[in-house]
Amino acid sequence: MCGIVGYVGRVSDGTALDVVMEGLSRLEYRGYDSAGVALIAGDHVETRKKSGKLANLRHELDEHPLPPSRTGIGHTRWATHGGPTDQNAHPHRGGTDGKLALIHNGIIENFHALKSELLEQGIVFSSETDTEVVAHLLAAAYATTPDLTEAMRAVVARLEGAFTLLAVHADQPDVVVGARRNSPLVVGLGDDANYLGSDVAAFIGHTRHALELAQDQIVTITPDGATVINFDGTPADGKAYEVTWDAAAAEKGGYATFMEKEIHDQPHAVRDTLLGRTDEEGRLTLDELRIPEEKLREIDRITIVACGTAAYAGMVAKYAIERWTRIPVEVSLAHEFRYCDPIVDERTLVVSISQSGETMDTLMAVKHARELGALTISICNTHGSTIPRESDAVLYTHAGPEIAVASTKAFLAQITASYILGLYLAQLRGGTYVDDIKAVLKELAEVPGKIETVLERMGRVKEIAGFMADTRAVLFLGRHVGYPVALEGALKLKELAYIHAEGFAAGELKHGPIALIEPGQPVFVVVPSPSSEHGLHGKVVSNIQEIRARGARTLVIAEDGDEAVVPFSDEVIRVPATAPLLAPLLTVVPLQVFALWLSTAKGLDVDQPRNLAKSVTVE
Ligand code: F6R
Repeated sequence: MCGIVGYVGRVSDGTALDVVMEGLSRLEYRGYDSAGVALIAGDHVETRKKSGKLANLRHELDEHPLPPSRTGIGHTRWATHGGPTDQNAHPHRGGTDGKLALIHNGIIENFHALKSELLEQGIVFSSETDTEVVAHLLAAAYATTPDLTEAMRAVVARLEGAFTLLAVHADQPDVVVGARRNSPLVVGLGDDANYLGSDVAAFIGHTRHALELAQDQIVTITPDGATVINFDGTPADGKAYEVTWDAAAAEKGGYATFMEKEIHDQPHAVRDTLLGRTDEEGRLTLDELRIPEEKLREIDRITIVACGTAAYAGMVAKYAIERWTRIPVEVSLAHEFRYCDPIVDERTLVVSISQSGETMDTLMAVKHARELGALTISICNTHGSTIPRESDAVLYTHAGPEIAVASTKAFLAQITASYILGLYLAQLRGGTYVDDIKAVLKELAEVPGKIETVLERMGRVKEIAGFMADTRAVLFLGRHVGYPVALEGALKLKELAYIHAEGFAAGELKHGPIALIEPGQPVFVVVPSPSSEHGLHGKVVSNIQEIRARGARTLVIAEDGDEAVVPFSDEVIRVPATAPLLAPLLTVVPLQVFALWLSTAKGLDVDQPRNLAKSVTVE
């Protein structure tokens, strides 16, 4: 939610603008309501900003070029306070001398009070944003202490809420200052140049050396290095790390959209998430958790907290973890968990799942769980992000950068990592299912190849999506682990194709939703494997018959060789056979592909659907 880039180099050529614009293009997925840049140009700061996508800013820069500079900041916005207009676009200027510019990600909760104070002093505002309030406060602080770092320190002491702030001042032309509280900011360390970004994608084209900042810290970058202090002024060290992927991983790799590329990355996402987590004897080794085994053995309840797609990954994981460990697992939407007075104690394990590691709702849930004494583990895809840092331990998914706003490969990697955690807990506890662990791991290792098979078969799904551009509503049914898959299929369609879509537990149909079925209504049905326990397969086949009898158009996702579904299906989409608990890793793929091509058929923006942002850093 909002992308932020900062750059300072040694030479005043065109590099500052190029680096900032390149960073913004990689961060545009974080928000695309407006974009803007500010560069230091001699004794003042020059800004260009435009509502709408980055392309509009590029056009503005062609019409009104900026002078060469060695220092700049840039912003791509997901609007919170103030609509998506040119005036509300960042950067915002502070003071009246044209020397200071500031960009911001987050929400300043006490901005009304601060703004009233400034209005009383006669300050004139040119936008409706909370950010401009901070810009003016910073200009006033700089007038007292002509040092941008110190001025920033004075200002953050007055702010409530969540923020990443970056500022430049023309009187300190070799400096960019950043501050963070509950909002992301990472430092990129280069040769003769240093970088700031909401995430490492901002500077991955230039350096893979990164510095992680902790909560409530200020960083000052110059061409020579980066200095970190805490909000109270005490010196601090950032945590240095190497980014494990390169610029190529953040490119489209020959696909028309990031989403299509990321759907095709899924075999790797699962394979890489499994990698290095077993020893020579095939036992799981999760030393990376750094939690005493004894403590994990004592766990008597697990709560998974997450939002959106990540929560659906958690719902899938619940079935598997309960099965393997016999520990009760509850899945809570993070924003509900935080304010529901949850029952949590020191024997509760709270597992958060988040691709970005920055989702504010999930972060607040984790903090609350820790306050209540729970043990917290983060399943996360983004190194250096806030949620892992605020958790007792982290299990990284290795899906690589996910740029498309709609999550795909992260979902598969989240299920994989949750399964690894579940199997590891089962291994530690040594219960009834301990003997099954190796068999499950063997089947998991075969999943990437099976996803490849599913992807090879997607031509027909693309065709079906192409015919359905006029469809007004689509329903999705599933049972057991297929139920969250149905929810995920519906979410993908809503966010990408703006079509009314709903997922149901197939067993719930007869309790109400079946009234929605009328002739021609498309319904996707995720069919469990015929090898599923408790006759689940037969029950879902009966559900298909019930809706077919009422005129539904049935689009059935079924295992190879499952002939029972054929008489009741308008279309059968085949996936290779796998263990019933692993099926979501295959059955969700056609639903992602369907949403992708239906959105394309409607001429919509697949990677950046309206009103959304990749990482939701407000509550
Ligand atoms: C849907 C989607 C969202 C995210 C949710 C959580 O395609 O991407 O529902 O899954 O906002 O985001 P993370 O995983 O970054 O916490």
